[in-house]
Amino acid sequence: MADMILFGVFPYVAVALAVAVGCYRYFVDRYSWSSHSSQFLESRTLFWGSVPWHYAIMIILLAHFLAFLVPSGWGALLGRPLRLYFLEVTGMALGLSTLVAVILLMVRRATNERLLTVTSVVDWLVLASLLLQVATGVYIAFTLRWGSVWYLHTATPWLWSLVKLDPQVQYLAALPLVVKLHVVNAFVLIALFPFSRLVHIVSVPLSYLARPYQVVVWNLRRPGMEEK
Ligand code: HEM
Repeated sequence: MADMILFGVFPYVAVALAVAVGCYRYFVDRYSWSSHSSQFLESRTLFWGSVPWHYAIMIILLAHFLAFLVPSGWGALLGRPLRLYFLEVTGMALGLSTLVAVILLMVRRATNERLLTVTSVVDWLVLASLLLQVATGVYIAFTLRWGSVWYLHTATPWLWSLVKLDPQVQYLAALPLVVKLHVVNAFVLIALFPFSRLVHIVSVPLSYLARPYQVVVWNLRRPGMEEK
């Protein structure tokens, strides 16, 4: 029964919440649709936390999605021991980078007074949830070997059953508690998405690639500059 609620009902609730509240916020309160950069309050630790975080998590999530979207191709890729080792070790290294990065980002907010004042309860919830997500992910990768392979026979068919609106929770039933926590927390993050700064994930400014370029001309004369 608990499995049915957690893996058969909660994912739909989380996605419905993300879409409904996300659309409402986008159309009714567009100005709030932002990551609300804090770079001008502190930039050095932000650089060492944010840059590794974004590169590593994007590659890890790409791997999660590929194993779900093209399971046969992913299985073929892992079919040779050398490739399997290479991908697993790369995943572990990237996972560790995300763990260090998210801890750095949390310490940055907790130890800087100006940042503390602009950090909301939802910000802390998101950071705690991200920490839990990457910590459980890294734990799984290090202790429950070849996750990239057993994912194909557990998470992939379960996720497809959700897409087909016919949840088959038995695919996850026998998995250890830590894996279940990792999966449920992924949907907690989806539920938190529309209430938080995470909305910036879907506001990549792609139109910038096609817009006419701008030329910035400085016309402030600094002391000591010669008149030509
Ligand atoms: C339904 C959703 C998800 C499932 C079924 C899932 C499953 C897994 C599995 C099986 C592993 C171990 C991979 C291995 O041993 O190589 C893993 C690792 C990991 N996951 Fe997830 N995951 C999900 C969502 C997420 C999300 C949303 C995030 C981040 C926001 C995330 C972050 C990580 C990280 C950082 C690792 C460790 C890196 C690695 O070795 O691959 N996961 N996940």
